[in-house]
Amino acid sequence: MALNIVIMAAGKGTRMKSTLPKVLHKLAGRALLQHVLDNTAPLAAERRIIITGHGAEQVEAVVAGSPGVAFVRQMPQLGTGHAIQQTVPVLGDEVAGSTLILSGDTPLTATSTARQLVEACGGEKLVLLTIEYSDPTGYGRIIREGESLKAIVEHKDASPEQRLIRECYTGIMAAPTAALKRWVSRLNNNNAQGEFYLTDIVAMAVAEGVPVVGVKTDHETEVLGVNSPVQLADLERRFQRQQAVTLMDAGVRLADPSRFDLRGSLTCGQDVEIDINCVFEGQVTLGDGVRVGANCVIRNAHIKAGARIHEFTHIDGEALGVTVGEGALIGPFARLRPGAELGPEVHIGNFVEVKNSTMARGAKANHLAYLGDATVGERVNYGAGAITANYDGANKHRTEIGADVHVGSNCVLIAPLTIGAGATIGGGSTITKTVAAGELSVARGKQIAISGWARPTKKR
Ligand code: UD1
Ligand code: CA
Repeated sequence: MALNIVIMAAGKGTRMKSTLPKVLHKLAGRALLQHVLDNTAPLAAERRIIITGHGAEQVEAVVAGSPGVAFVRQMPQLGTGHAIQQTVPVLGDEVAGSTLILSGDTPLTATSTARQLVEACGGEKLVLLTIEYSDPTGYGRIIREGESLKAIVEHKDASPEQRLIRECYTGIMAAPTAALKRWVSRLNNNNAQGEFYLTDIVAMAVAEGVPVVGVKTDHETEVLGVNSPVQLADLERRFQRQQAVTLMDAGVRLADPSRFDLRGSLTCGQDVEIDINCVFEGQVTLGDGVRVGANCVIRNAHIKAGARIHEFTHIDGEALGVTVGEGALIGPFARLRPGAELGPEVHIGNFVEVKNSTMARGAKANHLAYLGDATVGERVNYGAGAITANYDGANKHRTEIGADVHVGSNCVLIAPLTIGAGATIGGGSTITKTVAAGELSVARGKQIAISGWARPTKKR
């Protein structure tokens, strides 16, 4: 049976007090609207229609890449019923079909809940997702006679008795498509807000004898919408808590789930420990026994078994990724950038930056150093303050450092450059020419001694 998914996203989001359209604000690194698209993707709908209005160009640009998504513009915005009226021409002509209606500012509705509504609808029934709030102020109230559902009355139109009802409409429904088209064409705006209310179709369905079903949820997080920065931050913490619990249930040891942020996907092996205030973004994998110290930011990286990421380390693989080998020690205060590929047992210490470079097993750069566009052999010891001068102002060049090379402190290796295996570079050298294997190269001013030299004295 044909399924349409309609996502309402035309509203202004006034209370966000932002120039960014509300549905583009991010939760765990993804736009609110993107969450709705991702959560409903497994339903494999025939059509996914997004209703845009305020900031339409911006909204459309952000989610245009999602497969099978079409946009319908609603200008001006005259209410939720008016929004659905705009979609009528694109809902398809199937005789039997269901349309699931969601809101782009309600990001955490579970796939299973969406599926439950669609199945209950079956192209025949009007299904409303409802919830009981202790404070229902502002929400549409569910009017029942006995168990049967009769109507939704918006808060501003409700009588004092109706306002006592705590069962509310969540803004999420599934409707038989053909009936939905018929109903929305008959809406009017004779109400307290002068809007076309989608919720008025409930009374129409009842009048036609179409069964109306209320599905009540206990999961507030699934139906909470974002209207303000406070609500956005509240949902963010709820979502982070869910992710943290999922990881902990799989055995990951988080020092404090309330000080953990995942904005993407994190895959962990066994006995992984993560200290407080770490942020993971994009795609990150942590192998068995990996330990991450406090205050690390790790994006698009693959950290292999037994590696240790010490406190305050920043790893950002961007598009190229970063690999940290088995048993490697990174940080504290290390910076790994795109294309850093570190082999097993590599050590990267404080204030060391590595970019687009491979380091073979056991290589070490422990203090205050830069490795860019370099290939570093096994067991190389790269001294404090050494840098690869990889950029000549126009082009980048590579530095090849053979196995067992020892680069002294405070050296400048001017690329392109090759240093043969086992060579030694004396501290303080600026190296511009090929260094043969096994040789010592020193390139610095010779030390001279001036005996009998007197220090200047202060003039009177
Ligand atoms: C709506 C429901 C109310 C329910 C509440 C749940 C109606 C009339 N009322 O109220 O019963 O309890 O949601 O949160 O439906 N939108 C458009 N175009 C418009 C108006 C709204 O696209 O012309 C979009 C908004 O961007 C938003 C969604 O529809 O994503 C809901 O609109 P909102 O104004 O928040 O609905 P409420 O009036 O709060
Ligand atoms: Ca409204």
